Amino acid sequence: MLRSILAVISVFVALCASSSYSPFLPSFMDYSLNNEQAQRYFFAGKSEAALGVCNSIPFQSAQAGFASAVGLDSTVSWRQASLLTNATITMIDSGIDGLAQVCSVRQQFAATLGFSYDTCINRFYLISLGNTDWWNVMVYTHLMKHLEFICSTGFDVYQQNVDCIRKGETTDGNLYKACFYKFNATVNANPNNFCGATETFIGCIKDFFTTECNSYTGWMQCELERVGFAYDCYNLSCNNDF
Ligand SMILES: *[C@@H]1O[C@H](CO)[C@@H](O)[C@H](O)[C@H]1NC(C)=O
Ligand SMILES: *[C@@H]1O[C@H](CO)[C@@H](O)[C@H](O)[C@H]1NC(C)=O
Ligand SMILES: *[C@@H]1O[C@H](CO)[C@@H](O)[C@H](O)[C@H]1NC(C)=O
Repeated sequence: MLRSILAVISVFVALCASSSYSPFLPSFMDYSLNNEQAQRYFFAGKSEAALGVCNSIPFQSAQAGFASAVGLDSTVSWRQASLLTNATITMIDSGIDGLAQVCSVRQQFAATLGFSYDTCINRFYLISLGNTDWWNVMVYTHLMKHLEFICSTGFDVYQQNVDCIRKGETTDGNLYKACFYKFNATVNANPNNFCGATETFIGCIKDFFTTECNSYTGWMQCELERVGFAYDCYNLSCNNDF
């Protein structure tokens, strides 16, 4: 009994420690949700009606290309999503050149998959492949969804605001992290109001970057978080006030 409690605690501590809270590439790890919560909020009672096809050969090849381009062994698969995320964060964190490099890696990944892209990074499809858990699937799909946004709408905003966005990991990093801690506390205190907690959270992110940078960056960072939750919480909005 004590053994299993300790095991649960050590898993939890590991989960909490496994975040880097990068304002350049927020990740699913930052939410401090555990595997059960990932299942409950992102899978339970949900499914995707008409999934397309994801052929394993191009998927493997696209994934191998992605892994080696971010400096990992090409055998690192989507089943090691936190490793992939960390390597991608390291590259993006190095500055605009790193961001451009990551975006070209992503572009190559998406181009290799073509029409199957959406299915290959679909959470319900990935969980159906087995040999993974809910949490890992969410870390992976968040990574891909976030890159999609950062490399399109977000790119110019990053380019023009890189210094103030970086404040999220330096001077005022604790204020930025506080949004995530508050989210964690709210979700745990109020498990049935996940979407409410999400709404408060994206507002917190928006306020932080509006203050540090400008309202356009606040809106962009809020959108970046919103896209990760929009499928599960319908009414989220990052009203722009610029
Ligand atoms: C990812 O980075 C975090 C924060 O630096 C670290 O704690 C964690 O162990 C890393 N995860 C992997 C799989 O490398
Ligand atoms: C998340 O909330 C739980 C429960 O209140 C707490 O034990 C844990 O330390 C929190 N983790 C973080 C990273 O804030
Ligand atoms: C979205 O907002 C509408 C109108 O405010 C409300 O009726 C509906 O229940 C909300 N849906 C969700 C999923 O929160």
